Amino acid sequence: MPRIAPETIEQVAAASDIIEIINSYFPLKRAGTEHRALCPFHQEKTPSFYVNPAKQSFYCFGCGAGGTVFQFIMQYENVEFVEAVRRLASRASIALVEQDLDLEDESKQKKRKRLLRLHFEAAAWFHRNLLRTRAAEHAREYLRTRGINIETAKKWQLGYAPNEWTALTDWARKSGFSHEELVDSGLVKLREENDRNSIPYDRFRDRLIFPISNDIGEVIAFSGRVLRVDSAGGKYVNSPETALFTKGSVLYGLDKAKRAIAKSQTAVILEGQIDLIMAFEAGIQNVVAPQGTALTERHGNLLRRFAEQAILFFDSDSAGQKAAERAYQTLLSAGMQVRVGELPPGDDPDSLIRFSGIDTFRSLIDKADDFFEFQIRRNLNGTESATTAGRVAFARKVIPFITVIPDRVLQEAVLSRVATRLTLPRETLEGMVQRQRSAAKQSAAVSPSAVNVRHDFAVICKAALTDPLFLKKIRTYPWQRILDGLEGSQLLRKILASELEPDRPPSLASFFSCLEEPEAAIVSRILANKELNEAVGEEFWINLCTAEIQRRKNWLLHIQRLASDDIVAYEHTSSEIKEVLDLETAFTDILRLSCRQRV
Ligand code: CTP
Ligand code: MN
Repeated sequence: MPRIAPETIEQVAAASDIIEIINSYFPLKRAGTEHRALCPFHQEKTPSFYVNPAKQSFYCFGCGAGGTVFQFIMQYENVEFVEAVRRLASRASIALVEQDLDLEDESKQKKRKRLLRLHFEAAAWFHRNLLRTRAAEHAREYLRTRGINIETAKKWQLGYAPNEWTALTDWARKSGFSHEELVDSGLVKLREENDRNSIPYDRFRDRLIFPISNDIGEVIAFSGRVLRVDSAGGKYVNSPETALFTKGSVLYGLDKAKRAIAKSQTAVILEGQIDLIMAFEAGIQNVVAPQGTALTERHGNLLRRFAEQAILFFDSDSAGQKAAERAYQTLLSAGMQVRVGELPPGDDPDSLIRFSGIDTFRSLIDKADDFFEFQIRRNLNGTESATTAGRVAFARKVIPFITVIPDRVLQEAVLSRVATRLTLPRETLEGMVQRQRSAAKQSAAVSPSAVNVRHDFAVICKAALTDPLFLKKIRTYPWQRILDGLEGSQLLRKILASELEPDRPPSLASFFSCLEEPEAAIVSRILANKELNEAVGEEFWINLCTAEIQRRKNWLLHIQRLASDDIVAYEHTSSEIKEVLDLETAFTDILRLSCRQRV
């Protein structure tokens, strides 16, 4: 259900020329009636990203991304549909009236705004405590020992949470925030964990506070570092997941680092916030930190918007190395190139910068090896490398990392390099990749997430999406009764039930808005697939209906025969048979009528 009125969506779509919008992000080149560019959604060397001004839509033949101007904004800016509409609306100076948002959405928006406000004010409160209060003397002293001066503390808005049970709670209540809002923010914990009405106390006590911002600089969570060795709890305490904060989507520092990252097309990934602040302040500004958690796909997609390349700096212990391998796969699937930097054992970037200087760290960044080189250098031991069997065994371990490289050209290049490096024939490695790939395909084919649309459905959908007369015609059939319960017909049913008018691009846009992401992707694929011949849509439609009605009739007769001595079941099937026969009559009547019209 769209949360903004379809008329408004259409108005916004009509005011947002897709060529103009995309051109404002990166340049498009004219190619016949279409416009073309390197796809921003996957890594490629030759452009397969096409924008069609007549259809006001885009499609990438490389990765299958596609849709209207809304899907473009959603994917490029990593935002939800409603947010994409908002951004385009504000760009076109179209006011989204409040009643366009349904009540639930409106109250959610209000709550979000209040939570952001609370985080904003709490960050300022923590910060004032650190700079001004006597109780924070030991926290200021701690910063000195870590080489963080006042200017830096101000720039990163570091703070101090007092060593009290309800200092923040009291301040927040006095400042007009409700109990509900405090609980929702995660800034407090509850005495009775499962009772939202129970008495709250401060989550962060006697800790150095790091505000955590999203990529546009809004404070959405906090992380608190312990200050005394004898203190209870972990070294870092973090906000729990809230309406504002999901751990796997936030990269610490990105709001400040994104300029430098985009400029260098490289993101240096460090583990913690102090590592990041130290590097940034010493002049290496293209840095982000996942704050000790594993990198997620969302992190990868977020970073990919700003950079082509990532350089990982994880602890040199084996846990750090495992984390690097996982991060590598994640970033690679997001279409990034990955290098791995190596720190001296026992050092993290913070200690390295402090004790060996920023230039030492800079040289480690420059020296960071490509992931495979790193693997080979680190993990191929002498005995393995001495024999062919040993090197093949090692190759088997790195093949999975090669198989996930989405870009073919890059994959080929890596394959050659690894083959040379391992002094193995290239064909041996190629064979291994192919076997791995077909194994992966097989398991994908049986997985329920695999989206395969039956050919006849795809043809009918394409005709319905592109041919207004066809759509009008098949809407006159009793399609609900025919398609109801028919596996694979969901998308077609949605098209038929919608208010889509295929000859009006804005209407296509508002139709797209009703679809979930996987369905929207299928629609894009169907629209772009030249092998689907929409001209035979009607023929396919009639065959589909005929076959479906026949199938139901056969089935019911079969059941009736089986149940002939069970009078209740018999009566039941009789009424169902009558329904199917009625349906058949309705269907053939319309069919006859439409044939007559054609003649
Ligand atoms: N971390 C966390 N919770 C913990 C431990 C660590 O959230 N209990 C996160 C923090 O973001 C931390 C990062 O993981 O910065 C890396 O952890 P670690 O290497 O243990 O800490 P350092 O970054 O070295 O922290 P510091 O320099 O302050 O000791
Ligand atoms: Mn450290």
